[in-house]
Amino acid sequence: MKQIIRSLVVTLGVSWAVAAGAQGPGEAGSASVGSGNAVVPAVPRADKGAAAGVGPEGSASPGTSTQGEVQVPDSSKQQGEAQVPPAATGQPAPGAQASGGVAWYDKLANKEIEEEGNFWMPKAVNSAADDSDFMFYAIMALTIFFFVGITAATVYLTIKYRHRPGHKAEPSSAHNDAMEITWTVIPTIITVFLFWYGWKSYINVVTPPQKAVEIDVLAWRWNWQFTHYNGVTDSDLHVPVDTPVRLVMTSKDVLHAFYAPAMRVKQDIIPRRYTYSWFNATKPGTYRLTCAEYCGTAHAQMGCLQTDTSTGACLRRAVVVVHERGDYERYLADKEAESQNLPPVELGKKLYEKKGCNACHTVDGSPRVGPSFFKQFGTTISLSDGSKIPVDENYIRESLMSPAAKARPGYPPSMPSFEGQLKEAEVKGLIEYIKSLK
Ligand code: CUA
Repeated sequence: MKQIIRSLVVTLGVSWAVAAGAQGPGEAGSASVGSGNAVVPAVPRADKGAAAGVGPEGSASPGTSTQGEVQVPDSSKQQGEAQVPPAATGQPAPGAQASGGVAWYDKLANKEIEEEGNFWMPKAVNSAADDSDFMFYAIMALTIFFFVGITAATVYLTIKYRHRPGHKAEPSSAHNDAMEITWTVIPTIITVFLFWYGWKSYINVVTPPQKAVEIDVLAWRWNWQFTHYNGVTDSDLHVPVDTPVRLVMTSKDVLHAFYAPAMRVKQDIIPRRYTYSWFNATKPGTYRLTCAEYCGTAHAQMGCLQTDTSTGACLRRAVVVVHERGDYERYLADKEAESQNLPPVELGKKLYEKKGCNACHTVDGSPRVGPSFFKQFGTTISLSDGSKIPVDENYIRESLMSPAAKARPGYPPSMPSFEGQLKEAEVKGLIEYIKSLK
């Protein structure tokens, strides 16, 4: 008997370790990808614990950010500090209006990720995702139940009927109707239930309701652009709470995937065609957003809006901001006003970060995927065809619209065209910003 108990304990321990190992890295991976910096969660459990500790107080008050910051417990504050909000880095505030600070909606986007959750998953904040969570836990429970049961039976029977002195092999029964019917009917019922439930929730997940807020998603190497119905564009995804949001997505270059773990939304984005996704966020807050399809060198940095110029580490990533009731409309109005009020250099600097130029072009002279912008304006450069041209307003404009037209040696032709994507004032802003880097 002692032997049996010991082997059972060992078996259970191994099965738990296997289950944890299979799930652990996945979770750790998504946690660190989405968390907005390269350093944070070496230990997913601790990370999750801290996030769960934030609880309802921290996330119930995105509208009043000071209140939220005060209430955040120490553990998650450390996590938050690692992300360095722009205000703390001494950067000129891009969204600054009269107050001289960061615009209120960018403050929300700069907040630390507040996902609650457990070891397995962040808490779902999408009402359409409840079924898929149920499926996950149901299948996991079934798997553990049968794994433990079958393993225990195997171990027990092996020991009970083992060959030993004085023990004769028993004749096995060739057929047992009761047993055969039991182990056919019960698994059939379980399988049919899993199929029916999975099919039902899949249909729900891929069918947005008739009345949904529609947001266009454009992905490219290596950033996002979200375009709202009034024409406002942003690289953070701002959405209203308790409202179905339908995403119409396409890519400028290669395959990407929109992945918002708390929304349980993961959808490939494909060049030259549209794919769709939808969710209904149930709780205001700031949530992870990441690219889940390998799309090239800076895939891991996709959506990085602020890079540490000395280490190249990402300080702040694009996020999903779920607004309190009424704030989404306020965001659309304020965001629209913002781009009209900025001086060109400020607008250019903001675009440099928001359009993802920073993924390939530095402003400190060091080369990355593309040439640095530092001290470029007014110089003469050599092109791949051997000719020389000055870096002036026309060169910058042409490089934005047809990047391959004046290719430079040593840099891959991977930049997408921004034709039709930048307003006249924005082109001017980028030119003025590059001009200012000397
Ligand atoms: Cu975009 Cu990976």
